Amino acid sequence: MRAIQFTQHGDYQQLHVVDLAQPTPAAGEVLVKMTAAAVNPVDNTVRLGYMPGAKQPPQVPGVEGVGTIVNSTVHGLSSGQRVIVRVGAKGFGVWDDGVWQEYVAALPDEISLIPIPDAVSDVQAAGMASSYLTAVYALTITGGFQAGQRVLAPAVGGAVGNALVQVAHALGASRVLTTAGSTAKAEKARKAGYTDVIDLSQESLSEGVMRLTDGAGVHVAVDSVGGAITGQALSSLAQEGTLVVIGYAGGTETTASVTDLVFKEARVLGLNLFTRPASLIAQAKETMLRLAGEGKIKPLVGQTFPLAEAAEAQRFLMEERPFGRVVLTM
Ligand SMILES: NC(=O)c1ccc[n+]([C@@H]2O[C@H](COP(=O)([O-])OP(=O)(O)OC[C@H]3O[C@@H](n4cnc5c(N)ncnc54)[C@H](OP(=O)(O)O)[C@@H]3O)[C@@H](O)[C@H]2O)c1
Repeated sequence: MRAIQFTQHGDYQQLHVVDLAQPTPAAGEVLVKMTAAAVNPVDNTVRLGYMPGAKQPPQVPGVEGVGTIVNSTVHGLSSGQRVIVRVGAKGFGVWDDGVWQEYVAALPDEISLIPIPDAVSDVQAAGMASSYLTAVYALTITGGFQAGQRVLAPAVGGAVGNALVQVAHALGASRVLTTAGSTAKAEKARKAGYTDVIDLSQESLSEGVMRLTDGAGVHVAVDSVGGAITGQALSSLAQEGTLVVIGYAGGTETTASVTDLVFKEARVLGLNLFTRPASLIAQAKETMLRLAGEGKIKPLVGQTFPLAEAAEAQRFLMEERPFGRVVLTM
């Protein structure tokens, strides 16, 4: 079977197409024929060798994807069923070989194999877990979001940023503010129906938030960008607001005003979904599936690449700042 593999840490060109033996499921595991897989920033972190505790090469990347169950004797899962396969208990793409391969043997627990609603295509579902599970978890469980509150979710074109905007709207936010790094991206977002988009090439994040909220700020901000955006997101909070930091696409260092913390009595929290308890991830999953089934969230796919072009797909994600998720098709 075809797979993507790197045999040493390094740049995108370390990703090669290889021929591997089809995995044999262990007792209790399920064989899944993969149809699509997500390309995530974390795949880049792992390949570069920057992920603490990750499996050493040779490594097949990919923390999530989608496929069809080949044969199942497991209660509740049937042959032919479409499922999301995610990092879960086996640690796909980080602690074990990942899903950028044609077949995967997966554990059938409730956070590793997730049945897909009919309304969602395979390509849309390929990246749903890291986008929407993260969004629901960060907003509701970590951030304590309540319907009627104002939310800031920077990066409308990012996979997680876009999911956050959709989830916040779907869960009843009174206002959802977001950003785009360029005027062209801001225009694209507005054409796609996103109204409160702050064009970061024209004004700073905190200026934009204060302009759009008449100085009131937001109750919950979820920051998947990091860098300068983190400090500015803190400045954008309302009194007793909460900032949840989940990503570092734009950098790992920030400058924050201590007075934003003190005078606003702000809360700042970090989230790493990989290490959260399965019971809480399952809770977020139920919300995600409900919203998807009701058609209230629609995964935004920016670009698809055939599996063999995984190196270019990863470069494209990291360097071209696409509008929507990057997906590999098998
Ligand atoms: N903590 C967790 O559990 C968790 C879970 C999932 C993802 N994450 C993290 O969340 C972050 C976002 O993930 P994602 O899948 O949404 O990534 P993505 O699709 O690449 O989106 C990242 C966005 O960040 C903005 N950005 C600003 N400066 C950037 C820069 N220098 N390089 C690239 N992008 C930059 C871009 O928007 P503009 O072009 O509009 O500025 C881009 O759309 C990543 O760091 C990822 O590892 C964390």
